[in-house]
Amino acid sequence: MNRAETELCLFILSGEHNTLPQAELCAILESEGFGYSIQSRDKRILTMEVDSEGARIATLRAGLVNHASVVAFESRSEELAILDSLQKIDFSKWVQPNDRFGVKVTRIQREPTEFDVDELQSKIGSVIWENLNGQVEISLTAPDTLFLGVVNGNQFLFGPHLASRDRRAFSKRRSPFRPFFVPSAIHPKIARVLVNLSRARPGSHFLDPFCGTGGLLLEAAEIGCIAVGLDIDSTMLTGSQKNLDHFKVPFYGCLADARTSPIRTKGIEAIAADPPYGRSSSTKGDAVSSLIEKSLASFAKILKPGGYLCIALPLEYFSEDMIPSESFNIKERHTMRIHRSLRRHFIVLEKK
Ligand SMILES: C[S@@+](CC[C@H](N)C(=O)[O-])C[C@H]1O[C@@H](n2cnc3c(N)ncnc32)[C@H](O)[C@@H]1O
Repeated sequence: MNRAETELCLFILSGEHNTLPQAELCAILESEGFGYSIQSRDKRILTMEVDSEGARIATLRAGLVNHASVVAFESRSEELAILDSLQKIDFSKWVQPNDRFGVKVTRIQREPTEFDVDELQSKIGSVIWENLNGQVEISLTAPDTLFLGVVNGNQFLFGPHLASRDRRAFSKRRSPFRPFFVPSAIHPKIARVLVNLSRARPGSHFLDPFCGTGGLLLEAAEIGCIAVGLDIDSTMLTGSQKNLDHFKVPFYGCLADARTSPIRTKGIEAIAADPPYGRSSSTKGDAVSSLIEKSLASFAKILKPGGYLCIALPLEYFSEDMIPSESFNIKERHTMRIHRSLRRHFIVLEKK
């Protein structure tokens, strides 16, 4: 466990799901070895005591966490209260003489405010500039330190920005930008969430036993894992190799059946699985429940004790009886609506 000092940090979560962004954030911090203590959660805003380096790393790794910052102060979302709180802060902790700083105020729900946001930004900038005796520069385009103000209903949180998710990088890995594509391919953001929920650690062995077009392998490799893929279909396996080659990611793939995995080691630390369920990808003749049961029994043999497995399944195919209780504890369950006729369960299992 990382023992650095903790600070109150703020996270702006994606509004795409109610429970997954927080679960993903906590899973990343656990896998990276950072302790944390959640202080508050209000829709898209979560605050926790955590090492700010952990908050930065987690935001850069996550699929569903948009921004992180340190909380220097919290006040009512009123101009006088905000400017009054600012006066009490010593900004020299974050901005050195001759540095450039910037201020950005953002509204979470696009709610109306009693102040003009642009005007408030410049007033905050002036207070900080005076606080630092004018020995610093204001720059919105290339600041050394960016201060982020977050309006969340009648609450205002303010402090130095730590990190933002790289939306463009995820977008560039979407199916239309890969050489091999089939409709069952998972969106990179969701693939990243599955990988993160499996608590995959940089440098460790990660397995996707139903690798398809390689969406999960790409995300696991992006965070620094040795990503190993299995698929029963040679067209998919060569397709996934093409995709990984395209992104210059090493490919460790094998034509194999997940039910009788050829892996003969207990060295796999994390597994994320997006199995077929016969709609847009084939189960090769097996019933979905039978395929899942046999595969879980095979994963139990190769996953390290204390390792995690995250599996995505349509709701109608999930039953707790499928999970070998002598091998796994159910750690978390989340349900996500994909479209009108498909709701997916994300189940996280811990190897006993
Ligand atoms: C839903 S797709 C995976 C999609 C993948 N996550 C992606 O991003 O492209 C399921 C994959 O499992 C493979 N598959 C089906 N039965 C299998 C089995 N018994 N063992 C291994 N792979 C299997 C299929 O060929 C298909 O590529």
